[in-house]
Amino acid sequence: MFLRDHWYIAAFQRDVASKPERKIILGEPVVLYRAPEGTIVALEDRCIHRDVPLSMGACLPDGSLQCAYHGMRFDRHGNCIHIPEQTRVPGEARVRAYPVVLSGEWVWVWMGDPERADEALVPAYPWFKRPAWRARLGHIHVKCNYRLLVDNLLNMAHLPFVHPRTIGSEGVVKDAKVMVERKSDGVRLSRRMYDIEPPPTYKAAGGFEGNVNRWQTIDFTAPSFFEFDTGVIEAGYEIPDTSRPGEFATNAKILSRHSMHGVVPETERSSNYFVGFAYDPESMGEQTADFVFESVYKTFLEDVEILEAQQANMDLAPGRRRINMASDAAGLHALQVLEQLEAAQAARAGH
Ligand code: FES
Ligand SMILES: [Fe+2]
Repeated sequence: MFLRDHWYIAAFQRDVASKPERKIILGEPVVLYRAPEGTIVALEDRCIHRDVPLSMGACLPDGSLQCAYHGMRFDRHGNCIHIPEQTRVPGEARVRAYPVVLSGEWVWVWMGDPERADEALVPAYPWFKRPAWRARLGHIHVKCNYRLLVDNLLNMAHLPFVHPRTIGSEGVVKDAKVMVERKSDGVRLSRRMYDIEPPPTYKAAGGFEGNVNRWQTIDFTAPSFFEFDTGVIEAGYEIPDTSRPGEFATNAKILSRHSMHGVVPETERSSNYFVGFAYDPESMGEQTADFVFESVYKTFLEDVEILEAQQANMDLAPGRRRINMASDAAGLHALQVLEQLEAAQAARAGH
């Protein structure tokens, strides 16, 4: 089951061109293209005539989309405006049109009831809009249900085992002070680790010689969006309040970044995972940013290997009983938030 009344990332804005492109979001085929005057259009990628993907067709100079099979044309609202060999176009000749919002670097589509589409609900990712800040962005396709990614991003006990070469170290689990806060639409997981050995990525990128204090503040917003505020500072110095950049001054060596994770369900067994981080170029040089991004990307690929194997195994025994561990607390809260939203969606559908 998917949560429909939400905005989901369909693509990077820079990748959408006049050539139509097919995406699967929440199990639905969606075609994205850029009309001649620049507007990005999202329609159901299935012709109302014989189901051929409209993404196989072409965008015409008037901004309409022409089916590749028998030439039906659809305007940007999904209405059929032309059928070859006939003058009458029946009213039911239309495909679904999805509301689109451009925010940050991404194209967001509303997969639910268009009447409920509210731009204010687009995840804000304010760090990616800060003047003078820069971003490194990527995308990974993962063959697993989106909930496995939600579970992964809220349980940091996996770091020393899956990521010992990059962001994992023993102290991440052993010495963490952990706080979990439930919000109406999500969960905040805050972790503080004092006087621990820096993990390999931080050691290499920040040149830390001694121990560090490390922080991870993870904000999950249902259905599947995350903001991470993470970093390390030399041990002996207080962990700064990085939610106010420029307002904390320190002589200590520090490495801080704000990351986004936008998980977009594709099918029940696959997801598109948009990742990136924003940084202040005054405190992190370009070379360091490149290095951190490469290492973060490698880290995600390590997760992908685990997640895909996990999904394959779950498929062999659906509904098998599992046990939880203490570090699952945040993930279990997230699951409850998702279940509440699913129940509300089912109740709305029942009316
Ligand atoms: S399938 Fe599209 S016009 Fe026939
Ligand atoms: Fe991971």
